[in-house]
Amino acid sequence: MAIPATQLRPGMIIKHNNDLHSVFSVEHRTPGNLRAFIQAKLRNLRTGAMFEHRFRSPDPIDKIVVDEVDMEFLYNDGDDYYFMNTESYEQTHLKRDTLGDAVEYLCDAEETLLDVLRDRLGLTGSKEGCGTGDCGACSVTLDGRLVCSCLVLGAEADGRQVSTIEGLAKGDKLHPLQRIFIEHAALQCGICTPGFLVASKALLEKNPDPTETEIRYWLAGNLCRCTGYDKIVRAVTSAAAEMRETR
Ligand code: FES
Ligand code: FES
Repeated sequence: MAIPATQLRPGMIIKHNNDLHSVFSVEHRTPGNLRAFIQAKLRNLRTGAMFEHRFRSPDPIDKIVVDEVDMEFLYNDGDDYYFMNTESYEQTHLKRDTLGDAVEYLCDAEETLLDVLRDRLGLTGSKEGCGTGDCGACSVTLDGRLVCSCLVLGAEADGRQVSTIEGLAKGDKLHPLQRIFIEHAALQCGICTPGFLVASKALLEKNPDPTETEIRYWLAGNLCRCTGYDKIVRAVTSAAAEMRETR
């Protein structure tokens, strides 16, 4: 169904340049002159890339049309995407691995993995600082790769391994990173801490002996408003040394 670009809304799936995209945010800029445009943040469902696109035209802005796909994103199986008609299915049914356990949940097509974790699975360790991929507070790993869960759709996690902060400690035994963060006072309010810990663990799995520069670069996507970064970097360096010794 073709709709005017003015009717774009977050959560829609649209066809644009022959590819399918989910719409994350829409900003209408219609000053009434020839420069009127609509700026949308889109996610390419095939490549996963997020980008901003301006729908603009010398014509009145409501003459720009896009194809809204009358199907909802159901799930991604390797390179294939499956869709279901929104009239018959309002929610998406998925399976996922978390904390080593397979779980199933229902989620809406536009729901982020972060919302699924927090609101549907009660895993509130991952935090929402910004919701736009800027702060890293929502960091989790997806099949071992560090991602911002606020930028991943819940539907995309189907059949994949998701590791969250809840999986770091083993029962009462803290992960060395958690213990050493406490020893180095590398946290204050703690909002950023789950993201730092998940990101640091991902770093040490990839590089057990990182330099200070490598740690700072790796953690550049995690923001902290409280501690400054020195104590965090010292804690990661110290945890890396301890973990190397106990390997
Ligand atoms: S909440 Fe995801 S990056 Fe900030
Ligand atoms: S400890 Fe508060 S934002 Fe990092």
